[in-house]
Amino acid sequence: MRIGRPTLASRASQYLGVGSVRESKQSSAWPQPSDLPKGHPHLGVRDRWYLIGTSDLVGTDPVAFRALGEDLVLWRDTDRTVQLMVDRCPHRGARLSLGDVVEGELQCWYHHWRFDATGQCTSVPSQGGRCGLADSTQIPVTYPVEEAAGYIWAWIGESGPSALELPAEMTDESWSTFPETVHWQANWMLALENLVDIMHAPFLHARSITLGGGATEDRVAVTDTDQGFEVHRKNQAGVNFDWVEVVLDTLPYVRLDIPLPPSAGPGPPLRILGFLTPSDNDRTVVHFPRFRRVSGRERMIWRSLYRARLRGTHMHVLNQDKMMLEGMRTVEEARADERLAQADRPVIHLRRALDPVFERQRKEHGLTE
Ligand code: FES
Ligand SMILES: [Fe+2]
Repeated sequence: MRIGRPTLASRASQYLGVGSVRESKQSSAWPQPSDLPKGHPHLGVRDRWYLIGTSDLVGTDPVAFRALGEDLVLWRDTDRTVQLMVDRCPHRGARLSLGDVVEGELQCWYHHWRFDATGQCTSVPSQGGRCGLADSTQIPVTYPVEEAAGYIWAWIGESGPSALELPAEMTDESWSTFPETVHWQANWMLALENLVDIMHAPFLHARSITLGGGATEDRVAVTDTDQGFEVHRKNQAGVNFDWVEVVLDTLPYVRLDIPLPPSAGPGPPLRILGFLTPSDNDRTVVHFPRFRRVSGRERMIWRSLYRARLRGTHMHVLNQDKMMLEGMRTVEEARADERLAQADRPVIHLRRALDPVFERQRKEHGLTE
């Protein structure tokens, strides 16, 4: 979740001496701190790669970003490399994201203490700059970041990062792509359960152009894979959202296809990857980059149709998911007295797959429940 940051206009007004919009803007914009302890499963699985946003999320100014319940700051250093660290100045707790990047270092706005790309304090101006206090001060939490395929990725966790291995669609140029990001006021587990629950499509999305087709009665099969599991409808393929692959590895994501109507132009089905980045217990940023393996004239037609018409349709469908999940409110409330059907097998499978991960995480963070 990206948190309000000064706009170009606000910066300009500040430097033109007409007052800082930064001041008025931030007085009520900060979300309450997460009420769950670090490592709680409802805040996400730690020691994983997360998609933070497209590269243009971070320009010359620091950006506040909440992930897995932590308030973080993103900024670009001297080499334009993105850094991600806790958004709290070690001096007296001001938000570093309100500061500036000066000479490739992050400068806190409050008293202008500066920090380098490792989080080391390099200057305490009121004590002459470089000094013993600066040398002994460090931003305590920093996370590894990589920029690849036009996106910023961060390893959120305590252990060292594993190699970032992107899905083939993101590195193979035969796929034409559009990034899409939506913000849901729902816990990430409810969002992930929605993505493995393929039998919601012919009901919730019954009136949509792309997901309204096919039979409403079917059984689903779940098959384990090396990296997670796959879900298929037993009696229908290539009609609707009929399968999904769930990757639960060090970069978790889902992969699915949506058959497109002729009005979407010639070409194979739409491929969607889904990356969930939990902001906290109640909010999730969902990245749904779209892909279609088309080239030449087909690619041109698809890209212009997507911009002109299809994007709106997709957003309409995603809004239906958003309405459902936001109405369910909390994981506890949603699961209280639930009655599961055969079509919920993938949801059960997902919960079982995550149980040992959560148990390990709880132990590592000293959480008893
Ligand atoms: S609180 Fe950051 S420099 Fe004082
Ligand atoms: Fe949906």
